[in-house]
Amino acid sequence: MAGTTATQSAAAAVNPLRKGLASDRIADPCNVVFFGASGDLMKRMLMPAMWNLRLDGILPANYGIVGFSRSQYTDDEFRDQMHRSVDEFSRSGQAKEPLWSDFAKHLAYVPGDFDDVACYHALREVLEKNDRELGTAGNRLFYLSTPPSVFATIIEHLDAAGLGPRTNKQGWSRIIIEKPFGTDLDSARALQAEVSKVFDEKLVYRIDHYLGKEPVQDIMALRFANVIFEPIWNRRYIDSVQITAAETVGVEGRGGYYDNAGALRDMIQNHVMNLLALVAMEPPVAADADSIRDEKFKVLRAVRPIERTRVTLDSARGQYDAGSNAGTPVPGYREEPDVREESNTETYAAVKLLVDNWRWADVPFYLRSGKRLARKKSEIAIRFRSLPHRLFGEAGDLLDNNVLVMKIQPEEGISLRFNAKVPGPKMHIRSVSMDFNYGTGFGVVSAPAYERLVGDAMRGDATLFTRWDAVETAWQIVMPVLDRWQNTADESFPNYSAGSQGPPSADRMLAMDDREWRKI
Ligand code: BG6
Repeated sequence: MAGTTATQSAAAAVNPLRKGLASDRIADPCNVVFFGASGDLMKRMLMPAMWNLRLDGILPANYGIVGFSRSQYTDDEFRDQMHRSVDEFSRSGQAKEPLWSDFAKHLAYVPGDFDDVACYHALREVLEKNDRELGTAGNRLFYLSTPPSVFATIIEHLDAAGLGPRTNKQGWSRIIIEKPFGTDLDSARALQAEVSKVFDEKLVYRIDHYLGKEPVQDIMALRFANVIFEPIWNRRYIDSVQITAAETVGVEGRGGYYDNAGALRDMIQNHVMNLLALVAMEPPVAADADSIRDEKFKVLRAVRPIERTRVTLDSARGQYDAGSNAGTPVPGYREEPDVREESNTETYAAVKLLVDNWRWADVPFYLRSGKRLARKKSEIAIRFRSLPHRLFGEAGDLLDNNVLVMKIQPEEGISLRFNAKVPGPKMHIRSVSMDFNYGTGFGVVSAPAYERLVGDAMRGDATLFTRWDAVETAWQIVMPVLDRWQNTADESFPNYSAGSQGPPSADRMLAMDDREWRKI
């Protein structure tokens, strides 16, 4: 068990399924610089992630964490802020001494305007000091957790201040870029042009936090670490695939951002498209970052572009009206702060895609995501074809199609629905389910996605980050729908109540194919 983290040893002691697992690799010595360090993501996710990486022994001995944002904090004020956020949001509970005091010594802060190059020189001094005093070896990981409007400026100034990879002769420089990467195909290409002037693609880590979720990583394990699924993972056996990312929350104070984005940009173009790629891709030749990302890109390229004339048939949009969330009344989208009174922004999006290749020809992939729906539920459901011949059962017996569901959240696991005989003298058939649940299976609670992702970027493992070719292709896929939705107001908005299953137009889209959405 040498090198095993505390969490792992405890879990292995009680769970034979975890016995013999090697320790997580420790990251390289480095500085992690968070731009946008006074923001919400830093408070809720990123700093608690760094703290837990420390607790789990994944941070190296030589590390520095540097915050950079406009707020005028001193180092100590920043440390206090971060202490409070860890106490409030960390999965491991309140920070304990003496560990916190030791961790806090590795925290520093640089106040500055993103467009003031002098502040980047100040940052450089802090990083060089950390290299001398903390042994961070000239390695730098920059994390852009700012509004996307300043991504390009930050990158340009990093380069100008001698902080980019070209000028860093001592160690490596990498960059993590938060979503959204562009707001449409053109702006994504323009941003990429700026990024690639300074950072080679191998140094760019575009975050999609869905890829850091354990059950999402398990999609590949299910497909490529078992022999029983892959032979039937194709058009001969699969009828259709439904990918759902449903939320109960509304825009949560982010009306200003969301009203210019909408569900298609916010969820489908990135998170849901990544799920599609993982479910539909061919087996990679190896388990390294580029082999896997090559296959993801290939399958996205095979997605049939939605013809303009088919947009209204193959997509559906919705906007929530007032309703209720767990019994509490909630306002409609247009009543949310910073949302336009007559907003045409969709808070629900559904699209039907076809993947034009040998494996998937004619198998529809139905994708949907929405806010203020009946339940929080992200899942991928693979529905198999009907039986070729019905042998058993009488009228009233349900011979449902087999369905394999990969549950991403809030439940994490896999469930397979199949038909079984009802006990008794007659051959009655009912659909039953076989379930695997991560928590009880492995006896651990999955770490939040950001922990996994920041740790991977520190180690230089880009497998769970989206490569530019996939981002660009995902934009190409959604553009016809986005164009149409932007240019034509939906007069039915608001068209679903908060707490419901979504707009009737989404049901009609599936009814045209004689199918129904799974219940949220
Ligand atoms: C973010 C979106 O990327 O994902 C949010 O911007 C959304 O609007 C969130 O709420 C959903 O993430 P999760 O992990 O709660 O499904």
